[in-house]
Amino acid sequence: MSANTGTPATPATTDATPVIATGREIRLVSRPLGAPTAENFELVTTAIPQPAEGQILVRNTWMSVDPYMRGRMDDAESYIPPFELGAALDGSAVGEVVVSRADAVPVGATVSHFAGWREYAVVDAATAIVLDTSAVPAQAYLGALGTTGLTAYAALTEVAPVREGDTVFVSGAAGAVGSVAGQIARKLGAARVIGSAGGPVKAKKLVGDFGYDVALDHRAGAIADQLAEAAPDGIDVYIDHVGGDHLEAAIANAKVGARFALVGAISGYNATGPVPGPGNLFQAYVKRLNLRGMLINDHFALFPEFTGRAIGWLTEGSLHTEETVFEGIEQAPAAFLGVLSGANTGKMLVRLA
Ligand SMILES: NC(=O)c1ccc[n+]([C@@H]2O[C@H](COP(=O)([O-])OP(=O)(O)OC[C@H]3O[C@@H](n4cnc5c(N)ncnc54)[C@H](OP(=O)(O)O)[C@@H]3O)[C@@H](O)[C@H]2O)c1
Repeated sequence: MSANTGTPATPATTDATPVIATGREIRLVSRPLGAPTAENFELVTTAIPQPAEGQILVRNTWMSVDPYMRGRMDDAESYIPPFELGAALDGSAVGEVVVSRADAVPVGATVSHFAGWREYAVVDAATAIVLDTSAVPAQAYLGALGTTGLTAYAALTEVAPVREGDTVFVSGAAGAVGSVAGQIARKLGAARVIGSAGGPVKAKKLVGDFGYDVALDHRAGAIADQLAEAAPDGIDVYIDHVGGDHLEAAIANAKVGARFALVGAISGYNATGPVPGPGNLFQAYVKRLNLRGMLINDHFALFPEFTGRAIGWLTEGSLHTEETVFEGIEQAPAAFLGVLSGANTGKMLVRLA
């Protein structure tokens, strides 16, 4: 990553007429071919605009780093627009309101919004959500209490609903979604929960910390063989975060009528050509499988139900969560490269202040 200046950010005042201050942001300067590198990003110090009527100025304290952002680095049509070259990236963040020109969102409130990858953000107040941080820290709303946790919940309740006594397989099980998905599957009645992750340290955490009965290590051998051994009677539900060999293994080891939530396919995100589908897809009709893709945006109506349950789980201590934290806006590209390569356990976050 290149940095055009090392000037530190100057905090804005909480005054109604604040001094224009500067802040740092991360811009996309080139699009990757294959795996992204630090050179695709630039750290820039820029003036902070004055919030207009109805807007707030937020000092971002945490930002989320997510695998889907890899797709936005490409100039390709998708469900969300690509990042623009020469402009700051964006994504989920939380922060503290330092200037408000909107009655509904006072100075001092903690809010979530979508203008991450920068230290200060001017946001339309109507698009910001005021957070209750009395029982949980603000960054929980980027992880277990945010779309991350909701993704696990929606996958297991609406897309591939878990039934009492099911055997559930989750790939990417030590990651942000996966680390809560196994525990939620258990709460919903799963009898046996199998997770896969990369390396012995993560495999140990799956069983020791994230409530899985069995851990598969995708770096240690063929995932299909490991899954066959872990689920000799087959799986009822598969939450797919990886695609590729994991999806093929899940199809091979599925029971008749098994339900699959196709949540992500990170094994192909850096591919430079078409990614082959599972070689055994014909088994999907032999076994009458239900393979269902999902985008979390279609499940936002579940938020109140999910938040109510998840806050209870977090405060009573029955949902274990972890974070991998990079410090400072200048580390955001490294955090992003890290989430694609497995540097995280639990939610990957950048702390900005
Ligand atoms: N559909 C939706 O609306 C939605 C919403 C949220 C997330 N997602 C998707 O869900 C998945 C998980 O997201 P997340 O935010 O929880 O990320 P995450 O799991 O915290 O981070 C990604 C993880 O993927 C694993 N990985 C990378 N390359 C791999 C490979 N070739 N084979 C196996 N594992 C690999 C790495 O863990 P290991 O060290 O274990 O390999 C890495 O830590 C992603 O595919 C994401 O795009 C989709």
